[in-house]
Amino acid sequence: MVGTRPNFMKVAPVAAELARRPEAFEHVLVHTGQHYDRPMSDVFFEQLQVGRPDHMLDVGSGTHAQQTARVMARLEPLLDELQPDLVVVPGDVNSTMAAALTAAKLQIPVAHLEAGLRSFDRTMPEEINRVVVDQVADLLFIHSPEARDHLLAEGRDPVDVAYVGNTMIDTLVALRERIEAEDTPTALGLTPGGYLAVTLHRPALVDGPLLEVALDELARIAGHFDVVFPAHPRTRARIEAEGLRHGRVRLLEPLGYLPFMSLVAAAAGVLTDSGGIQEETTYLRIPCFTLRDNTERPVTVSMGTNRLLGLDPSRIAEIPELIARADGAEGVIPPLWDGDASRRIADLLAGLDDYRGTWAAGRAAGEEAAA
Ligand code: UD1
Repeated sequence: MVGTRPNFMKVAPVAAELARRPEAFEHVLVHTGQHYDRPMSDVFFEQLQVGRPDHMLDVGSGTHAQQTARVMARLEPLLDELQPDLVVVPGDVNSTMAAALTAAKLQIPVAHLEAGLRSFDRTMPEEINRVVVDQVADLLFIHSPEARDHLLAEGRDPVDVAYVGNTMIDTLVALRERIEAEDTPTALGLTPGGYLAVTLHRPALVDGPLLEVALDELARIAGHFDVVFPAHPRTRARIEAEGLRHGRVRLLEPLGYLPFMSLVAAAAGVLTDSGGIQEETTYLRIPCFTLRDNTERPVTVSMGTNRLLGLDPSRIAEIPELIARADGAEGVIPPLWDGDASRRIADLLAGLDDYRGTWAAGRAAGEEAAA
């Protein structure tokens, strides 16, 4: 199952690994259509070489209830028809939760990629999605040490949890050469190491007065650095509707995966409120400044290059100084963020006869195979 931009990078390497083992797996890719614009969706299928989705549910935008309900109503008959042995759902978006609930209610086993992340902030829709999915999923694939603690604290059985590594980093590792060949900085007339890349799209930041403050602060530091901001449609729509000024900040259309990662890889720093980008910058060892009060990915702070600025755009003013001070502080890449997570997942799944009853026994066999 995929639905939104960040899902594609997490599922593509798993789908590719399953496809490499036709004797063990037959997989079907379903796209809910939560994201649908070409730069938010199609471009990723082309660049990640995962093939077109086998089924498209076309749910589009809407309120949380509308989006969730549409995924459930459209997915249920498809799952009834396909009768899969397992439904794999990634991340924490509305499509993830809707798909997990639909499958669980049909008694179809569910595996959650990126299980156990918690911000402990239920004002974030994603946090509600994470908690729900991790309660109904049968297999919990984690990529961060604290995820296991969260799952056990919520009553999950340790045998259901497997630390497999980070499938989004699999995509980054697999496409590293193509990302380098892309050379987005040169295409945009930027000096490598001399600009700030920005992505901001969360409702808490862009749907209220903070977006204007953030743009003012960014315009101010655009004197020190070039500031490049590929804007999510939600953000762009707000900027246009409110007529917000952005001075020398370069607003761009959303970029595809390869050009965006090329932009990040050569940046002096990245300002974001995204989840995935906190991880990608940690892997690439690029300073990341997260404009949120919390993160469900604390390992990127404790081990990686991420720093929480708080939901306080006035702190953007500190970024040039923080980048100068961070010079050489490269952090450490968390364990098993190594490009092999999808192989471990496929090894584990191949060791199972059925995905519910024999998980405990099969997991032991799969872990042995993975080792
Ligand atoms: C969703 C996820 C969020 C994730 C983000 C990544 C939920 C609750 N949120 O947020 O966790 O970080 O995706 O991008 O699932 N729009 C378009 N074209 C598109 C998609 C969206 O114009 O292809 C616009 C629409 O105006 C839409 C708005 O963006 O109403 C928000 O889209 P939606 O999918 O509801 O949430 P995101 O903000 O994208």
